[in-house]
Amino acid sequence: MASVSSGLASKLASFNKKNFLSSSDLDASQILSLFELATQLKIGNRRIDLGNRVLGLIFKKSSTRTRVSFQVAMARLGGQSVDLNPQISQIGRGEPIKDTARVLSRYCDVLAIRTFSQQELEEYASWSTIPVINALTDLEHPCQALADYLTIQEKFGKLKGLNLSYIGDGNNVANSLMICGAMLGVNVKICSPNGFEVNSNIVEKARSLSEFGSKISICNDPLKAVKESQVIYTDVWTSMGQEEEQLRRKEIFRDYKIDQKLIDLADDEVILLHCLPAHRGEEITEEALEGQNSYVFDQAENRLHVQQALLAVQLGGL
Ligand code: CP
Ligand code: NVA
Repeated sequence: MASVSSGLASKLASFNKKNFLSSSDLDASQILSLFELATQLKIGNRRIDLGNRVLGLIFKKSSTRTRVSFQVAMARLGGQSVDLNPQISQIGRGEPIKDTARVLSRYCDVLAIRTFSQQELEEYASWSTIPVINALTDLEHPCQALADYLTIQEKFGKLKGLNLSYIGDGNNVANSLMICGAMLGVNVKICSPNGFEVNSNIVEKARSLSEFGSKISICNDPLKAVKESQVIYTDVWTSMGQEEEQLRRKEIFRDYKIDQKLIDLADDEVILLHCLPAHRGEEITEEALEGQNSYVFDQAENRLHVQQALLAVQLGGL
């Protein structure tokens, strides 16, 4: 069984007890160290027992991957998780965040929160005395981006200089992909219809964090965007909370579907990623999702490994 090298442990030690609210909360060297630890955990080269620590899960939106991968990650670290579903806790009856956060900090060791506004997540973090993890907000999905770039690194053996084209809505997933990709040296192109571009503040933030010469660009022609891309990424056109706009969006995003014709325009080795759940026949065809370029299930699996590594680091398990 491999041990964590002292360099790796010291890079990650600085993240002990820290919040993970945005992709920018980790720097490039911490992310790469986290990938190293996640890989050791994945291949069974390393075991970490945290000794019965507890993760609280507050999810105001549905989830399969994030919820279950966090629960399994915690179980594999020898800990437990408690589901604080707002419908069955006082959260749903409007107990103030400042009270909930201070009470839960007395019971739990870490919280993973999925909610609408980033501001609400930050309010939880400001009142909690335990680390808080962003399990998706309308602004960001940083745990997803970690799993995405680990999957890309596994496939290509590197990240610097790769071209990733995200085709679709300028949403939470796109925002975290830009920030994380910029720090890791990946050229990230976000291709969305007019009016659905990524938040310009996040574009500026990503550019300001850019390392190793990575370029962040915005465009709206998918046929041009995928040229020379090693990674094509897409997500649903209508995110949770936007259901009323679904019909209108289906019409507007019609030309932003990932199909074999689009894949054929990219690099010969291109891989296809989707955070899932997918709407087959909308943002991606069944053929593309099930085809040989698709790495979506490796990507989903990596949620577990990166989050297990993240929890181990935040809870001081190295
Ligand atoms: N990708 C993702 O976060 O999936 P869930 O909504 O199922 O958690
Ligand atoms: N953008 C999607 C991601 C789901 C994992 C949403 O927010 O609904």
